[in-house]
Parts: sequence; structure tokens; C-alpha cells
Amino acid sequence: MDHGESSHNGALKAILTLGHHTIELPLICGSEGEVALDIRRLRAETKGLQLNGKGIQGGLITFDPGYKNTASCQSDITFIDGEHGILRYRGYDIAELAAKKVRFIETALLLIYGELPTPAERENFRELLTQYEMLHEGMMNFFYSLPPNADPMAILAAAVQCSSLYNPELRAIDPADEDSFRAAAAKLLSRVRTIAAFSYRKAMGLPFEYPDPSLDYCSNFLHMMFSIPYRRFYATETMIRALNLFLILHADHEQNCSTATVRMVGSSRANLFDSISAGISALSGPLHGGANVQVLRMLERIERGEETIDGLINSVKIKEPGKPRRRLPGFGHRIYRNYDPRAKILKEAVDNLLEELQINDPLLDIARELEEKVRHDDFFQKANLYPNIDFYSGILLRAINIPVNMFTLMFAIGRVAGWIAQWREEALNPEAAIQRPRQVYIGKTCRGLCLP
Ligand code: ACO
Repeated sequence: MDHGESSHNGALKAILTLGHHTIELPLICGSEGEVALDIRRLRAETKGLQLNGKGIQGGLITFDPGYKNTASCQSDITFIDGEHGILRYRGYDIAELAAKKVRFIETALLLIYGELPTPAERENFRELLTQYEMLHEGMMNFFYSLPPNADPMAILAAAVQCSSLYNPELRAIDPADEDSFRAAAAKLLSRVRTIAAFSYRKAMGLPFEYPDPSLDYCSNFLHMMFSIPYRRFYATETMIRALNLFLILHADHEQNCSTATVRMVGSSRANLFDSISAGISALSGPLHGGANVQVLRMLERIERGEETIDGLINSVKIKEPGKPRRRLPGFGHRIYRNYDPRAKILKEAVDNLLEELQINDPLLDIARELEEKVRHDDFFQKANLYPNIDFYSGILLRAINIPVNMFTLMFAIGRVAGWIAQWREEALNPEAAIQRPRQVYIGKTCRGLCLP
């Protein structure tokens, strides 16, 4: 295939040669230099073409399992340059948002609406968050019916859907209707925090602590997590800052597995709540958001002497035929071939946080040693495997007393911001079609049924 040629109207195109046929494929250029081959007309233009004496059945399709080379949409929300370790929300570098201590809710509004809110917009949205922070009392039956130690991610996915049943009007919002969309976004952002805290209380057998309207987003969450009837919990500035940073860093990451899920489910015109519930399920997997739990478990096993760092590093190098390679949780990323910028920020934040709180966490020493050894290891160097966001995030969460089984759920609270933005972008795109990949069938060809 040739590429980079200009067609008669000056637009860039690629030329695909198929036997004696040539097909022009336009190129789409992103604002940061990404170039994509636009194959939208490929099937139609190749239908019936003769290749090796045979007509192409239905037209030519592309094959890209895992979408390693395929863009599913055009988006102006988040930009990642995986080669150079760059992440920007709506053009703002993640390091700058973190350093300037932008608040999580401001970041959420930036992602959803494209600009940081004015003070008036921020106040207005804050009021909505307060107004919607309570769950319908009927939801208590949902929580009471759960078994103890139920998986918090499964609770969250179910509760997000379940809570929306009490507001049928929100399940039918028109994404173009500003007021109802804002109400739905505020309800989700606000309630996901209440549901998360209630899941913890349920798992611990503690009475539910209702939200306090006088508190900001992060303090309110920590209050619902840790206040008990006879002792009110007051979060320190350090804890609030750490949680805020954690949520900002997790707020969006373009078309990852869970976000692509939210957009895919939304592409069938499923409502915001159901689409995000599906995203939560996608996030729970150990290769995605669930990796932060796996990292902590791995560090704990090393601490207990059940595994050694060297043994662990060596174990991932062995690849048994026909079996997937063992993976070191917290390392590697589909997009980053360099240090994940979020991991870099988190690593520094964790150092400062532990010093400020005067915590000596042996898991941090193990993590540092593991990272150092991996950094100098040939296998990891050649495969460009660096720590990702999940490698240090658990140590930060531990320092503010978040239990390990809540880690992925904490990720979800942050990511709800990005999911809302991405769902809306998909819903408002007049060119968006229901997402429906194709397949290359390799099963049996037509055969008759021979019953005795
Ligand atoms: N440890 C050891 N080997 C790894 C790792 C790892 N963490 N990650 C990738 N590799 C290897 C793969 O096995 C593969 O080698 P092989 O083909 O010889 O088996 C090679 O590196 C390339 O990997 P890919 O499969 O192309 O990577 P992919 O883009 O599919 O996967 C993923 C990315 C899922 C993140 C992977 O790196 C991984 O499993 N990491 C561990 C789990 C993790 O930390 N997930 C969190 C990611 S960040 C997030 O979701 C928020």
C-alpha cells in the first residue's frame, strides 16, 4: 500500500492495491499528528472484486483483534502520546492540572464540557451534587439484600443501574438537552461516591453514614467511609489532597477498555446509567482497573516471603506454548511505550504523602526495589514495559486507609467523569453508528443435519 499521496482535491489518501484493482482510501489527520486510514467505504468499494479468481464475499474487511491499530471514533476529549508519555485533558497537561491543584469536580466539568468551569458554574454544579447526593431510601433494601463481603465493583455496577430506576426521567434523557443532561451527570458523579461508601459500610457490617451537604466532594466521601455514630471522622487536608489527585489522574484515558465499552453500549442509544454500569464491569478486570488490587496483593506476597522479586521477574519470562504469558501487574500499557505520566505523578505524590503522614510503608520499599530491578531487566526494557498508573496508586490509597478491595472502585469514581464525557460525545455525534464489529468466520461450512 502506498500512502501520503494527494488526491485531485488535495486531500491525503492511501492507495490499496488488490490484484489488478486499486482503491483509494482517504486519510484522516488528528490535531496532534495522528493519521488514520479511513476504511469506511472499503467494503462497499471491494464488494464482488475478483481476487485469485474468487469474488470477495461481502467486500473486504479489516482484521485487528484487540483494536491495536483501529480508532473507533474521533474525539476531542483526551490526548495521549504513548511514545513520549504525554496525557492531556482537553489540551491541558495532566501534570499541570495536578500541580495547580485543580479540583476533581472542576476536572470532571472540563472533561464533560471542554472548559474549566467559571466560579459561578462550579458553585452551580456543586449545588447540584449536594442536591443529588442522597440515594432513594428504597435503595437501602438493595444494600440490605447483599451478602456480606460482596464484590464492591459488582455492587457498584448493579447499584448505578438500580439507583437510576428511581428516576425514570433520567433514564430517558435527551443528551442534547442541557438541563436534563447536567442533572443526570451530577446525579451520577454524586451518587457513585455515596454508593461506593455504602458498599464499604455494608462489607464492614457498619451502619450507613449519610452524606453531609456541608462537605466538599472528597471530604464527604471520606466522611461516609469512616465516620461512625459515636465518632465523627474529619479528613485532613493531606488526605483530601491525595484523594483529589488520585481522582484527577483516573478521570479519563481516551478509548481504553471500559470507556470503549461505555461508548459501545451507548451507541445502541442505551442510557447513560446503563452504559456506565457496563463500563464499571469492564473496569473490574485484572488487566484493566482491577490491576491496582493485583499489584497490592503481589507486594504483600513478597512482603510475606511467599514470592521473591527475582522469582517474580523471572516467572514472566517463561512462556509456555499455547498459554498466555504471566504478567506483572502494574507494568505495561497498550498505549504507553514510555513511563505512564500518571504513574510518575503518583510516585512523587506517594513519597510526599508518606513523609507528611509519617508512614513507613514496607510495601513502598518493595515497590521501589521491584521497579528498579525491572528497569534494568532486558526483557522489560525490550518490551517497553514501565510502571502504569496502578503500580503506585494502591500505596497512596492504603495511606489514606482505603481497603484493598475498594481500590478498583476508587478508580471507577474518578473514571465516571470521563465516561460521562465520552458517552455524551458519542451520543451527540451525528455520524455515530451503532458499534458492531465484523468477524472472519473460521467455523464449519454449511452441512446437513444427519439425525438417526
Ligand atoms: N508483564 C509481563 N509481560 C507483559 C506485561 C506485563 N505486565 N505486559 C505486557 N507484557 C508482554 C506480553 O505478554 C507480550 O509479550 P508476548 O507476546 O511475548 O506474550 C508483550 O509484552 C506485548 O504485550 P501486549 O499483549 O501487546 O500488550 P497489550 O497492549 O495487549 O496489554 C496490558 C496491555 C493489558 C496493560 C498489559 O501490559 C498487562 O497485562 N499489564 C499487566 C496488567 C496491568 O497492569 N493492567 C493495568 C493497565 S493500566 C489500566 O488499565 C488503568
